[in-house]
Amino acid sequence: MTSALFRLDNAWHPIEGDAGGGFTFILTNLSDAAVSGFKLVYTSLTRTIDAPVCDNAVYLRRNANFHEFAAPAGFTLAPGASWRFVVDGLLRPARHRTDGAKSAYVTLADGSHTTAAVGDLMLEGRHSEPAPILLPQGELDQPFSLQPWPAALSLVPGAAFPVALYPVPGTSADDLRAIDGVLALYRRLFAVGHVPFSLVSVHEGRALRFVAKSELAAEAYELSFSANEILLSSSAAAGRQYGLVALAQLLHGARADAEQFRFPLSGTIADHPRYSWRGCHLDVSRQFYPVADVTRLIDIMAWLKLNTFHWHLSDDEAWRLEIKAYPALTTVGATRGPDEPLLPQLGNSAEPVVGYYSQDEVRAIVAHAAAIHVEVVPEIDIPGHSTAALAALPELVDGQEAPDSYRSVQGFPNNALNPAIELTYEFLGKVFDEMVELFPSRYIHIGGDEVANNTWLASPLAKKLMADENLDGTFGIQSYFMKRIQEMLSARGKTLAGWDEVSHGGGVAPEGTLLMAWQKPEVGIELARQGYDVVMTPGQAYYLDMVQAEEWQEPGASWAGTVPPAHTYGYEAEGDFPEELKGRMKGVQACIWSEHFLNRDYFNHLVFPRLPAIAEAAWTPKSEKNWLRFAAIVSLNPRY
Ligand code: ACM
Repeated sequence: MTSALFRLDNAWHPIEGDAGGGFTFILTNLSDAAVSGFKLVYTSLTRTIDAPVCDNAVYLRRNANFHEFAAPAGFTLAPGASWRFVVDGLLRPARHRTDGAKSAYVTLADGSHTTAAVGDLMLEGRHSEPAPILLPQGELDQPFSLQPWPAALSLVPGAAFPVALYPVPGTSADDLRAIDGVLALYRRLFAVGHVPFSLVSVHEGRALRFVAKSELAAEAYELSFSANEILLSSSAAAGRQYGLVALAQLLHGARADAEQFRFPLSGTIADHPRYSWRGCHLDVSRQFYPVADVTRLIDIMAWLKLNTFHWHLSDDEAWRLEIKAYPALTTVGATRGPDEPLLPQLGNSAEPVVGYYSQDEVRAIVAHAAAIHVEVVPEIDIPGHSTAALAALPELVDGQEAPDSYRSVQGFPNNALNPAIELTYEFLGKVFDEMVELFPSRYIHIGGDEVANNTWLASPLAKKLMADENLDGTFGIQSYFMKRIQEMLSARGKTLAGWDEVSHGGGVAPEGTLLMAWQKPEVGIELARQGYDVVMTPGQAYYLDMVQAEEWQEPGASWAGTVPPAHTYGYEAEGDFPEELKGRMKGVQACIWSEHFLNRDYFNHLVFPRLPAIAEAAWTPKSEKNWLRFAAIVSLNPRY
């Protein structure tokens, strides 16, 4: 990689009497040409107010976290020289080093764009606290590397561990295929690890016998160990897989760290999940994840006995799902660039970036997941969070609605599909028709979050709809829209899932509808009381983009708070759920929102160890959870 021609340094300063403070930027010209008449763009989640006070720069425009400034008239930036400018008036204070410019580029006088490298946000005139150690060394109460920890176990550790486990003669083809499947999973996750299984008997190995036990639940399994044979009992393929994964984990730990971990000589494990919905969400709109990265996350989920992959396929920043009826969704709607309808955001710089999943790729991902007992629940986020769809299909906009008549919390103007335009439903009908063919899941998740509370109020068509249908404000319109969406899904044999705000303004028919409580835990109880099924994804515990410590040098978002791994682990989603509502609480889910996720190191730092912590919360009974034991085992997990 060649060095940058420009570098942008940035620092944050508080301002007396101003809640947000300001940024100081210094652009250094590393090229060998003097430049003048240029502009600078940076992307930052810490947005400016509409008219920030600039010193030595001219504010030009902002769109969400895209910010554009011009150098002062007549200014020339010589090779090796720097341009310093100050932008005062931020919507909120910066709290961490990742709250500054995520990317930048220079637009030269001829209109060409050149990327400027950026570093971490510095703190002006204050101590920049280093990041702390987040995970204690941990302490094992028993020497077994199982994660999530089983519901019940009584094991005697062996002195040595088998080279590999192999099926007894006469094992069915189906059971052999199950071994092969977990072996392949292991190999994908630990390319250098010694295989845990062999299909033929192995010197110093141990035999494995499969037992069909119909009284077990589909995801349950039992293991019984003795010196010459292991019995794996299950009633269905999922439980059998979980038993095989448990065996692979036991061997993996014993081999990786024989001081701490042993393979059982004798004893039993009787295991089943705490919740039926054990989810992990991935936002592929803010950042695009290539197919191999998506399947790797699904593999990691299977290793952790998570069973639901919530695939957040559209948002303001991009639409990622190929829809054959609307090719523009994945051309215009999946491209961000300096000269594109969708501007650079969230770490994009001079080069346009494009990314989407073809329907063939989606089918392959869904099949990959199904083979390891992970169900894919697709989400298209409507009616809000739809900037990309509207950029691709401008015919969905009410032409009489004033531009910038409302803004989303992320700063996108007029970003919602309009429920008063019939074409909106025609569009969504065709999208659902294609989704139904791609995704076997019972659920289609339609988002429903964060519609700003003055959305549509400047749309003449929406005003007419309100009058005709007697709808009360934004959320009355939203509820009208959601009810129609629910009918469209049910006509296609699907059940509506959404974020908790789907219940606003009258909501939808609750029976069978599944909503995700993300804003705060109490919301989940209220939704259950209203009759919705609930999955708990509170940002304060389960949003993996949240920062893990308060120190400035710790990276991450902080709008939902600081979420240390110990808090994620200890959080009890069932919390204050009254006994009679517990049946509506289907489970828990990690959410990986990608605004900050610019690279793999970052992903690993934020997602681990909190994803395994949520997996344990999803599987392990409260009485068996143990933070120090978890901490001692968690580093054995595969990384992204
Ligand atoms: C959300 O975090 N907007 C669901």
